[in-house]
Order: sequence, then structure tokens, then C-alpha cells
Amino acid sequence: MLDKNKLSQEKLDQIITAARLMKTGGVVAFPTETVYGLGADVTNAAAVRKVYEIKQRPTNHPLIVHIGDIAFLKYWTQAIPEPAWTLANHFWPGPLTLILKRSQHIPNYITGGQDTVGIRIPAHSVALALLHALGPDRAIAAPSANLFGKISPTSATHVRAALDKKIDMILDGGACTIGLESTIVGFNRGTVSVLRPGGISVSAIESVLGKTAILCQNKKPATRVSGSLPAHYAPTTPLKLYPTEVIFQTARILSTRNLRSVVITWSDIDLSELNDSNIHHARLPKNPVSYGKHLYATLHQYDHASLDCIIMETPPELPSWLAITDRLQRASFSHISTTI
Ligand code: TXA
Ligand code: MG
Repeated sequence: MLDKNKLSQEKLDQIITAARLMKTGGVVAFPTETVYGLGADVTNAAAVRKVYEIKQRPTNHPLIVHIGDIAFLKYWTQAIPEPAWTLANHFWPGPLTLILKRSQHIPNYITGGQDTVGIRIPAHSVALALLHALGPDRAIAAPSANLFGKISPTSATHVRAALDKKIDMILDGGACTIGLESTIVGFNRGTVSVLRPGGISVSAIESVLGKTAILCQNKKPATRVSGSLPAHYAPTTPLKLYPTEVIFQTARILSTRNLRSVVITWSDIDLSELNDSNIHHARLPKNPVSYGKHLYATLHQYDHASLDCIIMETPPELPSWLAITDRLQRASFSHISTTI
């Protein structure tokens, strides 16, 4: 699980420094396979408080606890249902967060007072080495390393741009390979619910469990999931979703009003005839896995390009695009009332 041989001596030294900082109450941004996290020692109340302050996140939105080995699951949680074991054994380390009953080792300030905790093992050698350096009786509480409601960071550069001066250290682990947040799964009296679609598809979960999972993403979840707020994951530039047929026309209309936009597509739509200096065009991959990997980096890029609007082509209505559609709908929600 932990291939330390792949890490350079320089990186290992940085990891030791990061672990030392965290043990003394520091806040460290670190890479995971999904997005970068803003980490604090779970057992350090002051450090966790700093995470909430830096992120400007309401304190009743619970944090995910990251652990380094499945052997520690019983220390941090209790009454683990059978399907949770099955999913953990199959998908960890990986982009899957399980909502489980917390043990007495998880303090109130991690869960916003709820008796459950979100927990996962990240699949990133730097994150795993950091957890290993912290030791078996510690874990990392970490939300995504961005300001509350904004786009999650998928590179150290994104974290630096948003939080640099406010945090103690950024561990650079390169670009995130998944690029979308973990799938969050809850358990209730034999039912398995997906509370946030993410890096692992609902069908993959169902096929491992051999039964259907309930998708709760658009219903009011029984537990608080901040990623389930209608407006979230949003760039500062207004973002709008348009079906393929009207993309061309929409960009034209904006340009005639002298508004500058970027059109971000996934299909083969030909925009070469637009040839308009007010309109940029970016193509994301047709494959949802690759699209997901590049989505946030592309949004970060164009959010810093002084444009008036980000026009996104509506994704295909297929299960494999669920997490992407979810993020884009939330990213566009905050701008629903803009006049563009
Ligand atoms: O991929 C990820 O999950 C990334 C990386 C850093 O691990 N983390 C992440 O954290 O996306 P954050 O805080 O941005 O989103 C975590 C979500 C929040 O919406 C939070 O409300 C939910 O997990 N969550 C945490 N504990 C929970 C609980 N006990 N019950 C319900 N939701 C919970
Ligand atoms: Mg987040």
C-alpha cells in the first residue's frame, strides 16, 4: 500500500517536516488522489479550529478523517456494518468515504456534534507516508484545501493561489489523478446510500455489494454533507451550462454584447467558424474519467482569465457522468440569477 521507494529523499524529508508541524498544531495542505486536503491532527482542537477559520467553513459541516491503514478503522469508528467492510476492503486506499458511527476517539469538533464520522484511506503515496509518519494513534482531519464553496484544488499551485500565506506548509504531490472528490456512502439499517457521487461510480459500488444503492444526492440527506449544498464548487466567474445545440449561438450573443467567454466542450462540436476574439474555446476529453481529472484545473485556469462567463456544454446523461454533472450543476447554481 505504501511504496516509500517511489518517493525522493527530498520528499520524504518534507513529509517528516509536515508531520512534525501537524503534531504541534500546524495546518498542512497535502495531496490525495481526489483533490488536495487541508489537514490537521484530528486530536488537536486548536489546529482543527484553524482549518475551519482558514477555509471560512461553517463549523457544523463535519470533516473527513483520513487514516493510513484499514487496521485503524476499528479505533476511530464502531458498529461497522458488513457492507462497509466489503467496500473498505475493495476500494481502500481510494476515493471512497464511509460514514460510520464514531468511536470515543473522534472528538465532537470533527463531526459538528453528529455521532457519525466520514472516514477514508487516500490512495496517494505522499498522503500515506504523511499518515505513517504521524503514527497509528493519529489521523488527519481534512476538507478540500479551498475556500468554502469554491473550486477544489487539484494541484499545489491551486492551493498556493487560494491559501498560501494562511497555512503552515503545502506538500506538493503533483496533479491529482482522479480530480473529483471522493464518493460518500452512508449506511442505515441494511440500506446503502450514496450521499455524494464522486471518484467511484455508483455501479462499481453496487457490483461489489451485489445490491442496489440509494442515490441521495438531490434529496435532503439525513446527515450534513456540505458538498450537497445547491451552490458549491463554484468559480468566481459566472458559470452556465448549455446543451450542445445552443452553445454556438450563446457564445455569439454574449460576444455581440461585448462579453468575453470561454466555451468548454466535450463533444465533437465544431466551433472553428466562431473565430471571435471575445470567445475562447477549450476541449475536455470525451471520456468521463479523463474529463473528471481535468475539470477543476480547467475551471481554475479560466477563472483567472478575466472573462465574463464560463459556458460549459451539458454533460451526457449517463451514470458514468453523474459526479461531473453534480459538480457542474452546483457550480452553476450560484450564478443562476446573473443576467448573462
Ligand atoms: O475527496 C475528498 O473527499 C476530499 C479529500 C481531501 O479527501 N475531501 C473533501 O472534503 O472533499 P470536504 O470537506 O470538502 O467534503 C467532505 C464532505 C463534506 O461535504 C462533509 O459535510 C461530508 O464530507 N461529511 C463529513 N463527515 C460527515 C458525516 N459524519 N456525515 C455526513 N457527511 C459528512
Ligand atoms: Mg470541499
